[in-house]
Amino acid sequence: MEKTNVAIVGLGTVGSGVARLLLDHGDRTARHAGRTMWLKKAVVRDLSRPRDVELPEGVLTDSLQEVIDDSDITVVAQLIGGLEPARTIMLSLLESGKDIVTANKALLAEHGPELFTRARELGRSIAFEAAVAGGIPIIANISQCLSANQIRSLEGILNGTSNFIVTQMDENGASYDDVVLEAQRLGYAESDLSLIHI
Ligand SMILES: NC(=O)c1ccc[n+]([C@@H]2O[C@H](COP(=O)([O-])OP(=O)(O)OC[C@H]3O[C@@H](n4cnc5c(N)ncnc54)[C@H](OP(=O)(O)O)[C@@H]3O)[C@@H](O)[C@H]2O)c1
Repeated sequence: MEKTNVAIVGLGTVGSGVARLLLDHGDRTARHAGRTMWLKKAVVRDLSRPRDVELPEGVLTDSLQEVIDDSDITVVAQLIGGLEPARTIMLSLLESGKDIVTANKALLAEHGPELFTRARELGRSIAFEAAVAGGIPIIANISQCLSANQIRSLEGILNGTSNFIVTQMDENGASYDDVVLEAQRLGYAESDLSLIHI
């Protein structure tokens, strides 16, 4: 079966989950993707931080350049939050020929046009189903299945963290501030509280 070498940039809540999926469920992922998805590198900021996932020898690195320089790595899951350095990192990865998968909704909301234009110019893709309402999922439905429709607005709880917060407030009478902190503790909510708006 054909092999695709993958890197993850950012090994927090989401990145660790993706790494576990690739490492522990490689057979299932290969069946679904029609190719082996091989985790070659995982880039973090701080190598000394404990991780929720056990990686094979040589995979963890704090050097983004190792990924950029490795032409065998063709797909990168870009899973660091915030705008910078996430934007600069994504542009460098695109320039070096990688296709990107990202969960960073703040980055796409703020710099989407620039990033998608650059990806198109370079013949690369940015996949972002996981960025918003990943569990439903809704982005492919809107952009592909419903492409003949003119959608003017969407209303509802579009995101699992918001769903958790609103449910706790409604069913348990919890305060917004307390539930946000609990959601952060559980790894659902952004570590940067300024990115959370309900
Ligand atoms: N958490 C969720 O449930 C969820 C759901 C959907 C979407 N998202 C989105 O997914 C993205 C990641 O969220 P998260 O909760 O996984 O974040 P997180 O737990 O804060 O993890 C961020 C990771 O990025 C790494 N990082 C930060 N700056 C870096 C840099 N300059 N170079 C290399 N690595 C760097 C950090 O490295 P260190 O560990 O070394 O500090 C950390 O491993 C965010 O954009 C978020 O909005 C999250």
